[in-house]
Amino acid sequence: MQVIENEEMLDKLLSEPSADLIEMMKRLDGDIMILGINGKMGLTMGRQAVAAIKAAGVSKKVIGVSRFSDETGREKLEEWGIQTIACDLLDRSAVAALPKVPNIIFMAGRKFGTGGSEDLTWAMNALSPAYVGEHFNESRIVVFSTGCVYPLVGVGSGGSVEQDAPEPVGEYSQSCLGRERIFQWCSRVHGAKVLLFRLNYAVDLRYGVLHDIAQQVWNEQPVNNTVGHFNVIWQGDANSFALRALEHATAPPTTLNVSGPEIIPVEYIAERFGEILGKKITYTGISADKCYLNNAAKAFSLFGYPRVSLEKMISMQAQWLMKGGRSLGKPTHFEVNTGKF
Ligand SMILES: NC(=O)c1ccc[n+]([C@@H]2O[C@H](COP(=O)([O-])OP(=O)(O)OC[C@H]3O[C@@H](n4cnc5c(N)ncnc54)[C@H](OP(=O)(O)O)[C@@H]3O)[C@@H](O)[C@H]2O)c1
Repeated sequence: MQVIENEEMLDKLLSEPSADLIEMMKRLDGDIMILGINGKMGLTMGRQAVAAIKAAGVSKKVIGVSRFSDETGREKLEEWGIQTIACDLLDRSAVAALPKVPNIIFMAGRKFGTGGSEDLTWAMNALSPAYVGEHFNESRIVVFSTGCVYPLVGVGSGGSVEQDAPEPVGEYSQSCLGRERIFQWCSRVHGAKVLLFRLNYAVDLRYGVLHDIAQQVWNEQPVNNTVGHFNVIWQGDANSFALRALEHATAPPTTLNVSGPEIIPVEYIAERFGEILGKKITYTGISADKCYLNNAAKAFSLFGYPRVSLEKMISMQAQWLMKGGRSLGKPTHFEVNTGKF
């Protein structure tokens, strides 16, 4: 069983490039710019890209753009070989001054705090894409989106697929559909090649749905079972898929669901953590018939299955908690099915 001893080891594991990503770097022309890099996923995505480029033996820059409200992220990135540029993506002239590169990953966004400042969420999720889509009109752009643009569905559906019509619940999800629509429009009018990357829940050990449930079990709190099922994917795999998705960006845009292969019952995960952590489980909330469920079969047909299995994630997460590993203190609120964040 793999035990992650510390954050350096965790960051390294999350940044390991797959053989397929390394091969892609040999084919991909031009540099890569990650917009909104200074968040939960971006740091190790940048590091993974640098590692893949190095292993491929090619010459390519990875540039990370964020406001860098937290300077420690910037220091890590520079240390890992990622060039950084501080930029507020809501500042149109600052976006227009960014160097043009052929490959863009757009992962800046706003979710929590939407209630009460809906305008800022809309600006971040739908206005900033207009500036980015206009400036990078000759680029490939992988746009991070969410499975929350779909309606809530029953477990028997097998999860939403790309052909399903969006039906976002609440303003955060509506603004995410806004982001997709603006990039679609930019692609049509300005010509950018775009892939809409609809992700459901990355797992790092410092945050994520597994982290949230494990923490409730560990602290002997009732596990919230309001949303009874979910999907997750190891963050290293999600980031690898996002980088590899650059090759699949098209005009008009392609849509791609991204998650793990299982539809996972909250009760199954809680019981597994209960066994490993030696805790009794209690629940709160009545399991709803419908949840956000992402059918990522198309992504698996393009990229293969994720390298890290659900069982491995469960085991690493439990060990991380027992060893007192750091938590980001950023709950996913995956149990929210009203669209209010
Ligand atoms: N993590 C998941 O499981 C998950 C699931 C579904 C969808 N997503 C989406 O995928 C994307 C990446 O996820 P994440 O968890 O890494 O998000 P995150 O932690 O919120 O990171 C995004 C980063 O974007 C930067 N940013 C925000 N506003 C900006 C602005 N005006 N200008 C420049 N940079 C800005 C922020 O860094 P600075 O403060 O330094 O600017 C922020 O840390 C997000 O859009 C998220 O909503 C994530």
